[in-house]
Parts: sequence; C-alpha cells; structure tokens
Amino acid sequence: MTSYTFISKSPNETHAFSKRLAGYLFPGTVITLEGDLGAGKTTFTKGLAEGLGITRTVNSPTFTIIKEYEGRLKLYHMDVYRVEDEFEELGFDEYFSSDGVSVVEWAHLIEGQLPDQRLDIQLYHAENQARRLELKPVGRKYEQICEVFFHENPID
Ligand SMILES: Nc1ncnc2c1ncn2[C@@H]1O[C@H](COP(=O)(O)OP(=O)(O)OP(=O)(O)O)[C@@H](O)[C@H]1O
Ligand SMILES: [Mg+2]
Repeated sequence: MTSYTFISKSPNETHAFSKRLAGYLFPGTVITLEGDLGAGKTTFTKGLAEGLGITRTVNSPTFTIIKEYEGRLKLYHMDVYRVEDEFEELGFDEYFSSDGVSVVEWAHLIEGQLPDQRLDIQLYHAENQARRLELKPVGRKYEQICEVFFHENPID
C-alpha cells in the first residue's frame, strides 16, 4: 500500500498543508488523525477547515466529541479521546455516510465504527518543532486524491 510523507517544520506548515489538501476532498470524505498529545491533529483540522471555506474558529471538540461547521463542504470535527466504548453509539455512521467531510482525532478508539475506505493520517513528533505526517489512503477514491494532490504539490 502506498503511503505519503510530509515533514512539517512549524504549525504554519501543517496548517498550510491541510488547507491545500482540502481542495482535493469530495463529499463524504473521512479522514482519521492519529498522534500523541500535541502532535498537531487539531492544527491540521484548522487548516483543513480554512481550506473548506469555513470562517468560524475551529476549536478542539474534546468535551463535545462532534462539532459541525458550515463551509463549501460541511465539516464534522470529532475528537473521540473521551469515548469509552469502541462501539458507543453516537451516530458516527450518519456522519460518515453524509455529504460532509469527517475528521476524527484518536480514530482508533472507535475502530469498529470506521468506514473501510478513508484517509488515515499519522502525525509524529520529530526533531525540534517538526512533525512527520504519514498519509495512508485506503480505497481507490482516496488513493486518487493522494496521487493527484502529491503530483500537483510535489514535496521537495
Ligand atoms: N510542525 C508543527 N505542526 C503542528 N503543530 C505544531 C508544530 N510544531 C509545533 N506545533 C505545536 O504543537 C501543538 C499542536 O497542538 P494540537 O492541538 O494541534 O495537537 P493535537 O494533536 O490536536 O493534540 P491533542 O491530542 O491534545 O488533541 C500546538 O501548540 C502547535 O503550535
Ligand atoms: Mg486535538
């Protein structure tokens, strides 16, 4: 399976990266974000939101689990850190099968409810302030997004 790596040297670079990626997403996109505390999952989501034309401020939804924003596509920002049961019924399925874009921080905690096809992104702390982002598309549509995105936005 192909995966793609992007090294971000600052919060701004992470933000700019996801903002640009937003232009390649389709209705019903599901993105999972995994990474330690402070790895940049919410920073990534903020950039994505801006790229979707969302003007409202995106905050970490820790206490609400799911937050919804209006943009070119709707954004469903989920942080499932506090979900205690992998199969807790919070209506995830409806979001994942909607026309919006779902972004799930700590997605492995609801592994059993995730759709088969999605874009999995791991964020790792690297040296200094850097972060390493590893994107793994699962399914043809997601492979295509990544192919086109990295073709049009080559990483040096
Ligand atoms: N290259 C980078 N990319 C993203 N964030 C960075 C980077 N370098 C430093 N940071 C800082 O790391 C922090 C990332 O916080 P953020 O809330 O995005 O992480 P998170 O993964 O969502 O954390 P949590 O698990 O608590 O939800 C911010 O304070 C940001 O300024
Ligand atoms: Mg966060």
